[in-house]
Amino acid sequence: MSAGVQILPDAQALALAGAGADWLARRIEHKPDLTILVATGQTPMGMYAALAARVQAGTLDCSRVTAVQLDEYVGLEPGDPRSLSGWMERAFVVPLGLRNVVPLDDPATFTARLRDLGGVDVAILGLGPNGHLGFNEPPSGPDAPTREVTLTPESVASNRGYWDGLAVPTHAITAGMDVILAARETLLLVSGAHKRAILGAALDGPETPDVPASFLRRTALTVLADRDARP
Ligand code: PGA
Repeated sequence: MSAGVQILPDAQALALAGAGADWLARRIEHKPDLTILVATGQTPMGMYAALAARVQAGTLDCSRVTAVQLDEYVGLEPGDPRSLSGWMERAFVVPLGLRNVVPLDDPATFTARLRDLGGVDVAILGLGPNGHLGFNEPPSGPDAPTREVTLTPESVASNRGYWDGLAVPTHAITAGMDVILAARETLLLVSGAHKRAILGAALDGPETPDVPASFLRRTALTVLADRDARP
């Protein structure tokens, strides 16, 4: 298994939250104006809550951090409860006291803004059940740009769990593989037995567009996985 993989043996969600929060807090302390690509999804929620608790307690200052949106559904009306930018606001931007956000509304504008910012310092990622990163669905090679995509049935099914009976949109915009792989450091969070096989493929299988996460091994990667997800 590649270097940088940390398997957390104890109480899954809590351990992942604490270890992830420690990892990111150290980097924010070192570089207060850190630019972070921010995943939504279930896995990082505990980590974001743990970071928010530190901000509330006055032990961490995120006011100069910039959040960069990783992915967004296409075709939602403003204010739709399924918006991933809304989820990022509620779970990360507001509770951590951020003032700067790069939204993923239009690929060309997003790409230009990231270029002006000098790219992403840190990517915080979950692992899709099909090996996707953001919504870079298989097959996505390492150069896949920021673009609109059609969601795979697997992603639609797994996203259904987020929206309490509401339909999952069929299209999305995703930050490209090129953006993700250019991050100076990456933290991949993985939890649960249902992720074990795909984590094994991502870390130990061939590098292939069929498992977009397999390209993360080209980056400065830290994986935090709980015992259930251990390949
Ligand atoms: P999850 O989603 O954190 O809700 O498992 C990860 C993903 O699909 O990218």
